[in-house]
Amino acid sequence: MSRLAPLLAVLAIALVVAWGWFRSPVPPAGPAASPTPPSATTPPTPAPAVVEYTTGPATPDGIGKFFHGREIAHVMGHPAIKWLERTEREMEEAPSKAIAAIDLAPDAVLADIGAGSGYYSFRLSEKVPQGKIVAVDIQPEMLDFLRKKSAELGITNVEPHLGTIEDVKLPAASLDAALMVDSYHEFSHPREMLASLHHALKPGGRIFLLEFRGEDPKVPIKPLHKMTEAQARLELESAGFRFVSNLRPLPWQHFMIFERP
Ligand SMILES: C[S@@+](CC[C@H](N)C(=O)[O-])C[C@H]1O[C@@H](n2cnc3c(N)ncnc32)[C@H](O)[C@@H]1O
Repeated sequence: MSRLAPLLAVLAIALVVAWGWFRSPVPPAGPAASPTPPSATTPPTPAPAVVEYTTGPATPDGIGKFFHGREIAHVMGHPAIKWLERTEREMEEAPSKAIAAIDLAPDAVLADIGAGSGYYSFRLSEKVPQGKIVAVDIQPEMLDFLRKKSAELGITNVEPHLGTIEDVKLPAASLDAALMVDSYHEFSHPREMLASLHHALKPGGRIFLLEFRGEDPKVPIKPLHKMTEAQARLELESAGFRFVSNLRPLPWQHFMIFERP
């Protein structure tokens, strides 16, 4: 027995060491444990669920692709610049009231997404003398028009910018605000566009979303070129934006404000 004693002692030490190894206090790789439990008043924001597009027979004004059940409209081609620039626009849509309601710091950077002829971009540029309006469009002809008009008007803080159908192509957290006037409903890839806008806006950055009111049959615009507030909220909230308000200064359009949390 006495000859076995050193062997038993070595075996006991080995068992203690092995036990210590397997119950190592080193945490497994992964996010560090929070030192304090999450507050009951600020629940973590869940990642937005990916909503798939669906397809169906195209109606005459649509592309047969649906997002949250809404059929996406055809893109308005550049020959319609004349319609965007029509003199009756002020009387019909009161864009000057929308411009007055867009609140911007003098050094703010706003992206006018789907800027078209720049009807809004040029009028807003006066509000940001130390900032700029990034006029984003996917049609190079629209950007050519914007460049010519900037030169004619002597405006230097409207920056034409070519985006793609899926991406505004702007750096992360580079925008204080974004404006979409009658353009969102014709984005062929709204989910991707909203994700790229989320990336480009600063936290707290705002989206001003103007769309013809889908709830109002008196608004003389084709149904696919209108949106209801409920539909707009469904689409933008599911992309991670917070609904702030729907101001009602305009005769035909919603004036909705969303925020990147
Ligand atoms: C109906 S026009 C509105 C123009 C302008 N916002 C206005 O109210 O005068 C819509 C514009 O959105 C642009 N557009 C469509 N899809 C786009 C996208 N994914 N990204 C940027 N612009 C887009 C079109 O090329 C078109 O110039």
